[in-house]
Amino acid sequence: MGIHYKNSKGPWHTFGNHVLQPMKIGPVILSNRVFLAPMAGITDYPFRCLAKSCGAGLVVSEMIASQALIRNSARSLRMVSTAEKEFPLAVQISGSDPCVMTEAARINESLGAAIIDINMGCPQRKIVKTGAGANLMRDEVLAGRIIESIVKAVGIPVTVKIRLGWDHKSINAAGLAKIAQNSGASLVTVHGRTRSRMFSGKADWSAIREVKESVSIPVIANGDIKSPKDAGLCIEISNADGMMVGRGALGRPWLFDQILHFLETGKDKRPPGLEEQYAIMMRHFEHIVDFYGLPVGLRLSRKHLTWYTKGLHGSALLRKSLNNANLVDEVRGLLECFYEALLTKQASAEPPVYEDYA
Ligand SMILES: Cc1cc2nc3c(=O)[nH]c(=O)nc-3n(C[C@H](O)[C@H](O)[C@H](O)COP(=O)(O)O)c2cc1C
Repeated sequence: MGIHYKNSKGPWHTFGNHVLQPMKIGPVILSNRVFLAPMAGITDYPFRCLAKSCGAGLVVSEMIASQALIRNSARSLRMVSTAEKEFPLAVQISGSDPCVMTEAARINESLGAAIIDINMGCPQRKIVKTGAGANLMRDEVLAGRIIESIVKAVGIPVTVKIRLGWDHKSINAAGLAKIAQNSGASLVTVHGRTRSRMFSGKADWSAIREVKESVSIPVIANGDIKSPKDAGLCIEISNADGMMVGRGALGRPWLFDQILHFLETGKDKRPPGLEEQYAIMMRHFEHIVDFYGLPVGLRLSRKHLTWYTKGLHGSALLRKSLNNANLVDEVRGLLECFYEALLTKQASAEPPVYEDYA
């Protein structure tokens, strides 16, 4: 059915249907084109499994520093250790040296990555000052050399994630996408902000349309897709082949399912009820603790628990208690009490269960 908008293409032009279709990236077949964005410290194995189970068509690893990987860093190796199990996984690498990045891509391929994604969009000072991330958008020749070298060295598809440019005076996403295409990349994702904007303001989806019009490889739109309606609008404005969702899915992994439902039917799907949200959150929590062990798992789970409970009545107090809890059973108990109280409140129709988001 698809979503119908009244617009310049006619009164009831249908958008979004193509996003529900499978996509082929080289030999890799994806069931749909709503992807989970790479987020350092967040899109680890437990979160990727969850996003996939909620409908994400592709998940991307956290950014892995090429230099650390080729030095055999245990942390970097662990980031990709599950690649075979979660096929197809796109593994994202960062760096600025073509030889080092090529070697890192080879290692990731041998460990089971289905796709190598090159980070050319990270705005963080500590990354760009090494010449990596968004800094590569300032050196198109080097960017092209890196892509070409990796494409030649591995037998799996190579994709690139970029921003619109370094700043508003140097918007070059369309040019860089062309370079990526000519260097053998299979797909480009564009975050609709410049590096200098970091995460401020609104992502510019219309600027992504210019990138889409300049290349024949698929273009994935990214930035500020926080609801199914955003997803529909982003596709309408950008005309992209698919989308990538990051922060919108934090504490709300069911957003993928809601987006797919909306693009298919044009209708909103309610989020899961509190009881189901609790079950999803607990499964995620147990997976984190199981994967990392203690005390690391407990520490890493806190931010996710905060996102799940954000906006719920009493969540600020819960957060404080969670921060002081050092035992898994203590955390389980706190969460159980918190949700039980909310469910009781809800059953007796005693408002409010939800508070305004801080
Ligand atoms: C905490 C955090 C970590 C991120 N880490 C990465 C990363 O490792 N690699 C990358 O390409 N982008 C990274 N990003 C950017 C996201 O992939 C995405 O481009 C950005 O958040 C905009 O999309 P959104 O509005 O859907 O979140 C990160 C973003 C956040 C908030």
